[in-house]
Amino acid sequence: MLGERVNSSVLKFMVDVMSYVPRVGEHSLVVSVLSYFISEEFFKDESKALFAGIAGALHDIGYLVPKVSQMDSDLEVLYDINVERKGNKLHTTLGGFILSNFLGLYEYSDVAFYHHLPASELDVLNPSHVFANIVSAADFLAMHFGSPGTDVPKDIVKEALEDHSEDFFPSILKATMEVIEKDYVWWSIEDPVEFYMRNLSSHLKESSQVDSATLMELGYFMAYVVDSKSPFTRKHSERVADLSKEIGREMKLDDNDQLCLYIAGLFHDSGKIAVEDSILEKPGALTRKEYSYMRKHVFYTMKFLEHFSNQYRDWTKWASQHHERIDGSGYPLRLKGEELPIQSRILQVADVFVALTENRPYRSSMTFSKAISFLNEEVRNGKLDGDVLKSLERLVKNGYTFPSETPISEIIETVDFLMKSYDGGIW
Ligand SMILES: [Fe+2]
Ligand SMILES: [Fe+2]
Ligand SMILES: [Fe+2]
Repeated sequence: MLGERVNSSVLKFMVDVMSYVPRVGEHSLVVSVLSYFISEEFFKDESKALFAGIAGALHDIGYLVPKVSQMDSDLEVLYDINVERKGNKLHTTLGGFILSNFLGLYEYSDVAFYHHLPASELDVLNPSHVFANIVSAADFLAMHFGSPGTDVPKDIVKEALEDHSEDFFPSILKATMEVIEKDYVWWSIEDPVEFYMRNLSSHLKESSQVDSATLMELGYFMAYVVDSKSPFTRKHSERVADLSKEIGREMKLDDNDQLCLYIAGLFHDSGKIAVEDSILEKPGALTRKEYSYMRKHVFYTMKFLEHFSNQYRDWTKWASQHHERIDGSGYPLRLKGEELPIQSRILQVADVFVALTENRPYRSSMTFSKAISFLNEEVRNGKLDGDVLKSLERLVKNGYTFPSETPISEIIETVDFLMKSYDGGIW
């Protein structure tokens, strides 16, 4: 079956992440629902409909690469029917690349890669191209008529599609016309989240264990995506990961704990995917609303990581507890004292230490020794763990430095290369 070789925890995690990306999230889910219906109409086959639905949710994954939405012409034209949406775009190139290389989701990569190509440039005998064209039709409807709450007469929708008929294989055009007629479809996209949970997510096969190599790869990718949202945090998560692991080693935690601390460090700020770049980069003080949104990143981290909560169980909790404090003054659950295991305390100290030694829009970076005196103050105030800090002090005294090369450098290099060689349509 299609999508069979993909780990469903990774898949659900990724769709969940996509659905929270500002401006892209809702669009992704609407395309998911419409792709599902068009595919069902076209193939009369539930498993193919399911595959198309997931492919639809992931089709714009290239937008996860920071700044791409500003460079590409696709997002600005959302809902403007007169703008040309065909031709290969930067986000399709990056999307295809991301799905085939980092996430073990290569079965979906061609759909992301080809979803802006007209039928004349696709091969009807290639199943991936057919799915790409289905997603393309769904994308067309979603962009022009799919913002939940719009109530456009069906004739107008069909006419618009007819005007672009050369973009689609005739058989897919026909199936899409049938789908447009159904009220059920339009009502379904009014609440795409509900539809996704009920008809797609719940039908994915039981998730199997994700191996640690896959988890690391996904972690590196997520760390790259959230850290590159702001120039101030470019290496934040890989540093938190490395330092947490090293503190764990210093404190004589076992190998598995050290590995899980590293993975937790890579994922701890994943929830920042849902925070607008403008908040992350704002030079001045944040308004109360912005600040609360900023803090909420940890809530999203928690939600995303629930997809892995039955595997290597505890690291997902440690990652979500990096803003809790021992005296109960942290967030999101105001846990305190004994409720916070040593691994969470390690992540808390590592996160603050790394943050203090980075530049921020509103202050410059601290030296290691200055950061340590700041942390001592936090320990005295009952917020952070004293033993953890002592281990960190020992590491620093023995010459600890942040890692200079990690697999993230490789991701950055490749993405930069793809972006530079993209010239707006030759791809
Ligand atoms: Fe797109
Ligand atoms: Fe954080
Ligand atoms: Fe952090």
